[in-house]
Amino acid sequence: MKKAPIAVLISGNGSNLQALIDACAAPDFPAKIVTVICNKDEAFGLKRAEKAEIPTQIIRNKDYTTREEFDEALHKAIVASGAEFVCLAGFMRLLTPGFVAKWQSRMINIHPSLLPAFKGMHTHEEALAAGVKTHGCTVHYVVAEMDSGPIIMQAEVPVLAGDTPETLGARVLEKEHKVYPQALKKMILTKTAAQSLSDE
Ligand code: GRF
Repeated sequence: MKKAPIAVLISGNGSNLQALIDACAAPDFPAKIVTVICNKDEAFGLKRAEKAEIPTQIIRNKDYTTREEFDEALHKAIVASGAEFVCLAGFMRLLTPGFVAKWQSRMINIHPSLLPAFKGMHTHEEALAAGVKTHGCTVHYVVAEMDSGPIIMQAEVPVLAGDTPETLGARVLEKEHKVYPQALKKMILTKTAAQSLSDE
């Protein structure tokens, strides 16, 4: 089975990266991570990638004066790795519309809320403050506007009495790890099907 080459972009702990690494280990999973790109030297996710023997690249914010220059370097690094799809997995940086356009319908993000509710940061605090009874996570295609774009998959969790942002966040994160590999598979199969139709 041909596995689609994937780039995973991270900035931190990389627990979603780990979920993707674990999923890709299955012979029948249609993806293989060919590079992990990170914008923070100290990110623990880099260690996860090294352990899995996946090549890593660090592209530091401070080495570029403009967002366009940073994104150009990012684009080149992804292309050089051979990746055809991109997963943002806790990549804490806004991407320029030009970069996003280059990866349109090939780049997905995971966000810790049921979009369109609670975009941006501090989603668990906001969910508790709003008093919602159900919270969760979303995997969506990346478009120029932050935390928007067509939804591929969502997973719900209950908000329980006495929840703190930490307990709620941990419950959501567990779901993220299940849903992200499934959504990645869905993107690849959707794109591959569309491509073979257009090749006919
Ligand atoms: C996750 O909650 C994800 O939804 C958000 O950033 C966090 C990354 O966590 N975009 P990790 O680095 O994958 O552990």
